[in-house]
Amino acid sequence: MASEKSKILVVGATGYLGRHVVVASARLGHPTFALVRDMAPSDAAKAALLKSFQDAGVTLVKGDLYDQASLVGAVRLADVVISTVGAQQIADQTRLIDAIKEAGNVKRFIPSEFGLDADRSDAVEPARSTFIITKAAIRRAAERAGVPYTLVWTGYFFGYGLPGIGQVLARSPPADKAVVLGGGDTRASFVDEGDIGTYTVLAAGDPRAANTTLYVRPPANTLSQNELLALWEGKTGGAFERVYIPEDAVLKQIQEAPTPRDSILLSIGHAVHVKGEHEFEIDPSSGVDATELYPDVRYTTVDDYLNSLL
Ligand SMILES: NC(=O)c1ccc[n+]([C@@H]2O[C@H](COP(=O)([O-])OP(=O)(O)OC[C@H]3O[C@@H](n4cnc5c(N)ncnc54)[C@H](OP(=O)(O)O)[C@@H]3O)[C@@H](O)[C@H]2O)c1
Repeated sequence: MASEKSKILVVGATGYLGRHVVVASARLGHPTFALVRDMAPSDAAKAALLKSFQDAGVTLVKGDLYDQASLVGAVRLADVVISTVGAQQIADQTRLIDAIKEAGNVKRFIPSEFGLDADRSDAVEPARSTFIITKAAIRRAAERAGVPYTLVWTGYFFGYGLPGIGQVLARSPPADKAVVLGGGDTRASFVDEGDIGTYTVLAAGDPRAANTTLYVRPPANTLSQNELLALWEGKTGGAFERVYIPEDAVLKQIQEAPTPRDSILLSIGHAVHVKGEHEFEIDPSSGVDATELYPDVRYTTVDDYLNSLL
């Protein structure tokens, strides 16, 4: 007998990551609901995104994190709530948790994590206040609410970690020089955004992923900056000078970065490339490895992504 598919609500559906979760949910056959603030956006790209959701069979639900009645109404439609809200709304997911408590029907809540481990990270400011403290507070609020949850750990999204071939601030591959934070041998993990959607949705109805962390850390996608650059050199035939930035200079750059975004990216880069926060063994008492849980998923590799840049 075919198993009943859980009904999935995505809050943050139109965001960078959220759209991939929506697509995965619909593709995997779940009745899918996307919380949308503006049902008729003037922005052509956003209108096209909403149309693509509807064409995939997704139900658009008008709502806002700051309109509690709309949240409760949306949550009542679903068994599973996946939040992919961005930095500005992470702390305010307490409103979503309140709505989940009030609705009383949700079997799994997946808060907006998808990054460093909020309970273990030593990331410096501004990443610390923006992501770590806020995400840890939401973990505690979810625990207090007593709703079953899954925390999704990921490394760098491909679109963040790879366009500059591991260079934290660059949006395109190096021309002649490559900037490397630290010594370049610390390993980082990278993951395709569509694969995050797939693993997250698979875990959403899986009892093995209840009240634990799902580590989305594909084994072929863990590379140091030096390995990544060597891989790119092999593909392009180029050779790049490495400009290694020692830790004290990285910390200074974080303070003096020209934009808040650069400062955040550098502080995350410091945690990953200098402090090595992607290098750890998964403790089986507190987490499960997505690629072991779902060995049939053929994830996209860093190699595939680099080939797409050629
Ligand atoms: N590991 C990595 O490399 C990496 C990279 C990026 C992000 N992340 C993490 O991934 C998660 C998602 O980030 P993101 O960059 O994908 O987010 P994002 O693009 O900023 O998306 C924000 C979403 O939240 C929605 N939203 C904003 N205000 C709202 C409100 N008042 N009510 C309801 N929805 C509202 C937006 O809707 P509108 O379209 O209406 O504005 C949009 O759908 C975060 O936890 C972030 O830390 C990790």
